[in-house]
Amino acid sequence: MAFIKWNPKFGVGVNIIDTQHQELFDRVNALFDAMQAGRGKDEIGQTLAFLARYTGEHFKTEEDLMQKSAYPGYKDHKAVHDDLTRKVLELQGKLDKGSQMLSLPVMHFLRDWLSHHISEEDKKLAAHLNQAGAH
Ligand SMILES: [Fe+2]
Ligand SMILES: [Fe+2]
Repeated sequence: MAFIKWNPKFGVGVNIIDTQHQELFDRVNALFDAMQAGRGKDEIGQTLAFLARYTGEHFKTEEDLMQKSAYPGYKDHKAVHDDLTRKVLELQGKLDKGSQMLSLPVMHFLRDWLSHHISEEDKKLAAHLNQAGAH
């Protein structure tokens, strides 16, 4: 069973964003599977890096769309992205040093963050893009 399952309610109605969100779900699931299977630090680190890289690309896609469409919520939305990026970097550092293990609460945090962010901020952005005909 997937840890985070795609559901039409997560669709925001902008193709590129929806496609990337589904890919993010896949990568969160891969990280969960690696944790569940008790994979070692190196493999967990690689799977997390794979997720972190894609998250960075995805945030950039959204931020570019925001800038191109003069989105009024750009600053706030970007700040939320930056905050998660910082937290993931911190987690990567701790896992790397061995001062923290990848745990279920961390996975729950990622899952909750994603579903909340998509349902709130990303839906607002998508409504703006659709209204502006900006994608
Ligand atoms: Fe976003
Ligand atoms: Fe997003």
